[in-house]
Amino acid sequence: MVDFKEEIAKYISKATNMEENEIKSFIEVPKTQENGDYSFPCFKLAKTLKKAPQIIASEIKESIENDLSDNIEKVDVIGGYINFYINKEILIMQVLRDEEYGKSNIGKGKNVVIDYSAPNIAKPFHIGHLKTTVIGGALYNIYEYLGYNVIGINYLGDYGTQFGKLIEGYKRWSDEYNLEENPIEELAKIYVRINNLCKEDESVMEQCRENFRLLENGDDYCKKLWQEFKDLSIKEFQKIYDLLGSKFDSWDGEAAMADKTDEVIQILEKTGKLVESEGARIIDLSDKGIDTPCIICKSNGSTIYATRDLAAVLYRARTYDFDKCIYVTSYEQNLHFKQIFEVAKLMGLDKKYTDGLEHVPYGFVRLATGRMSTRLGNFVKVEDLLNETISEAQRIMEEKNPNLENKEDTAKKVGVGAVIFNNLSTNRIKDEVFDINAMLNFQGETGPYIQYTYVRTKSILEKAGEIPDVSDVDVNVLKDEYSMNIIKLISSFGNVLEQVISKNEPSFLARFLIDLSKAFSSFYNENKIICDDKKVQSARVYLTMVTGKVLEKGANLLGINMPSKM
Ligand code: ARG
Repeated sequence: MVDFKEEIAKYISKATNMEENEIKSFIEVPKTQENGDYSFPCFKLAKTLKKAPQIIASEIKESIENDLSDNIEKVDVIGGYINFYINKEILIMQVLRDEEYGKSNIGKGKNVVIDYSAPNIAKPFHIGHLKTTVIGGALYNIYEYLGYNVIGINYLGDYGTQFGKLIEGYKRWSDEYNLEENPIEELAKIYVRINNLCKEDESVMEQCRENFRLLENGDDYCKKLWQEFKDLSIKEFQKIYDLLGSKFDSWDGEAAMADKTDEVIQILEKTGKLVESEGARIIDLSDKGIDTPCIICKSNGSTIYATRDLAAVLYRARTYDFDKCIYVTSYEQNLHFKQIFEVAKLMGLDKKYTDGLEHVPYGFVRLATGRMSTRLGNFVKVEDLLNETISEAQRIMEEKNPNLENKEDTAKKVGVGAVIFNNLSTNRIKDEVFDINAMLNFQGETGPYIQYTYVRTKSILEKAGEIPDVSDVDVNVLKDEYSMNIIKLISSFGNVLEQVISKNEPSFLARFLIDLSKAFSSFYNENKIICDDKKVQSARVYLTMVTGKVLEKGANLLGINMPSKM
């Protein structure tokens, strides 16, 4: 498979000594074909080389012109750009014949741990958890598609002194609450109530501490209650995971790390960096540019979130021998992970592991104000949001296509697809608005738009009857601008996936799918696909089929299912 962009980058790199990957990131696809298929803007080099961009462009052109392979037909200079005209036939055939659709084996033999979703038991699964679930799930699929061995961990928040309180509240009032129906909401109420009582009555607080101690020491009764809280919570979370199609290889949460924190403390003691401060034991990280010290043990001796995360690093290194361990959480936890990653370096872990730790933060999700959110109220359950989006999708479909079969199934794919796409379509660090109407807009840059384009390719194929054999496709039919736009995009699919994992940024793939959908819409509007000239029809039908396959593959990698009609 010729990678045209890479080949061009190699020529330029040879001529300029610039890094190939950097060049690749500058290479553009010109707006019109008159300016070639790929172009390299020289403006960025002007400053360092102290020459006019146009002169630089001419010099590069001169130095590479005689070395070009048959893949490139021509180079020319326009303004500060060097434009490359590629051998279209080679590119077209390559795209049409490729049945891998971006799949690769670059990750072979490498283990990637992805820590995502991780809601807290007996607490609501909030809209931020929805975002980590979706981002983590997409990354999981993409790493796997590129040949990595992926381990998805749902690191449940199932440990901490709050469970001592919850046990106490449960003991006192469990029969006043309907835990079967609404476990999480009811447990949250119990928690608030016992918390208030603790503030008033120190002896109750002491009882709660005792419960937690018992839980830590494996007391049967306390463990049984804790297990019940956990089971009830997971049952609730599972409803959301079922809708989203989320899967995990491990559910080892914080509690699974609790008996592994002693070793962390022992290791840190030996470094001499674990110091006493106001009764707590901390690691000072100011020499690493982190002003807030990392607390390892609180003054009462108990460990905290950070201690358990350190134990998890050790455990994961040993169990999964990871090359990368990625944590998907909101950026509110930036400091926490900075601290953890620095302390992990002190623990004498192999550099392979400490280098492989990576925090993948994302921005806030805000509910749009308007009809929907008023109806849902301020405190919304993610499950309700998903179901609301699905019913809205169904309403739209009843309106647009009343005779559609399988409306329910389609509405689910469209509604859930809309939510997933909305979570992935913008740069993850940017704050996001959850707006049901906007994300269900079939004409906007949305999940349903991609699904709609896909469905359109399907109906064209149906109309065409049969799909020609690739050897019967006349490439000359596909040299026009609209076909070539699609072909160039598809040829970059594998590259886009590699970019996604290099930045852990699924929005690159979301962007690609929008671009491909738009390119297909223009192709469809400008070129008659089903037509009298069978040679023309065959080639265009074939390209339509390939476009559909790539749209489907790409959407599936994001976690979106495609309807066959909508
Ligand atoms: N349970 C945490 C929360 O809801 C997220 C855990 C993220 N993973 C980790 N290894 N700390 O905020």
